[in-house]
Amino acid sequence: MPKRVAVVGVGCTKMGEHWDKSLKDLSTEAGALALADAGIDGKDIQALFIGNMSAGRFIGQEHLGAMAADQAGLTPIPATRCEAACASGALAFRKAVNAIKAGEYDIVVAAGAEKMTDIKGAGAIAALMGAGDQEWDGSIGLTFAGLYALMARAYMEKHGLTREELAEIPVKNHKHGLNNPYAQFNFEVKKEDVINASKIADPLTLLDCSPITDGAAAVILVSEEYAKRFKNPIWVLGSGQASDTLALQNRKSLTEISSTEFAAKKAYEEAGIKPENVDVAEVHDCFSIAEVMAYEGLGFCEKGKAKDLIKSKDTYIDGKMPVNPDGGLKMGHPVGATGVKQIVEIVKQLRGTAVNQVKDARIGLTHNIGGSGATAIVHIFGKE
Ligand SMILES: CC(C)(COP(=O)(O)OP(=O)(O)OC[C@H]1O[C@@H](n2cnc3c(N)ncnc32)[C@H](O)[C@@H]1OP(=O)(O)O)[C@@H](O)C(=O)NCCC(=O)NCCS
Repeated sequence: MPKRVAVVGVGCTKMGEHWDKSLKDLSTEAGALALADAGIDGKDIQALFIGNMSAGRFIGQEHLGAMAADQAGLTPIPATRCEAACASGALAFRKAVNAIKAGEYDIVVAAGAEKMTDIKGAGAIAALMGAGDQEWDGSIGLTFAGLYALMARAYMEKHGLTREELAEIPVKNHKHGLNNPYAQFNFEVKKEDVINASKIADPLTLLDCSPITDGAAAVILVSEEYAKRFKNPIWVLGSGQASDTLALQNRKSLTEISSTEFAAKKAYEEAGIKPENVDVAEVHDCFSIAEVMAYEGLGFCEKGKAKDLIKSKDTYIDGKMPVNPDGGLKMGHPVGATGVKQIVEIVKQLRGTAVNQVKDARIGLTHNIGGSGATAIVHIFGKE
């Protein structure tokens, strides 16, 4: 009988430019918040998994597992860095879940951290593109904004999504982020602002993009036996991971992200639920079009019908399928930390303590993508 795993502590730094804090500071701050939230001491932790995409390129630091354990005073526990581009955080979480399920540990910390603003914008964009296919996509000057712009054009052409409808995604996420104390931005935008903002990669403008961010997040996971010691554990009901081609040109379709579909299918099956049972979701909106494709890949609507879901406004907090109640990646995307930051929000939603609380949320989902969809990881959570 597979072991059950619960999340009992969560912590997250503010997202943004942290000129006064190093990667070490940020990861330790998130870890300390998660420990305090769980009401335990660092000496209880048996293993650490940390998601990080590219500290070597952003700040010249590798060997993140040992770095995090050392800085947090957790040595000599095993400490492992997990990398799957922007899905590194969810990967660290999945590795922690599987290690507990395998019976190796009872209390584990899964964290994610990234410090992206210490190099200039162009350097950060080049570092990010390290997660793309350098031979085919990077060599012709494509960036992630460029790759998602190609997907946006193909999607709009095939399914008739208009520029105005696409702009509704950042309008919603900026509104949701307005009172999020951890958000990089706290301002609302109108559809016209999105459409008329400076072009990044046509049709995507500045306001369609997630920003460059420093930040960290951490969660404490425990086995079923240990969960009895904690109030209000949030259970991991399902976990799925899948891959797809690294180069966009090799994809069967530019208008869907198949790794999302495979990862979601696995997670839904494991949890024994259907998409319509999800009460609240944190999805990977690195660019507005990515959220549109996530709606379809996760089964929140049929293929090609995301525009109807957008028009219904059902993805707002008080709608039938609330998505990104904290503002999502639009409110900060410290790439290696994002997957864990999404889990922090969903755990708060299921505890009933989120800033933008979705009423009666019992089942939550997180969806974290690496690159343009070469990795996708989906987790489903529930309360007793
Ligand atoms: C969109 C992008 C190119 C903007 O970078 P930039 O032009 O260097 O922007 P700057 O940092 O100079 O900021 C300029 C202004 O825009 C704001 N800004 C920056 N990014 C923003 C965003 N995504 N949304 C809203 N405002 C943003 C800044 O706060 C700043 O405002 P100010 O002038 O009032 O201080 C950059 O954020 C980017 O590449 N994002 C995508 C990151 C990515 O690819 N992640 C991986 C996804 S797979």
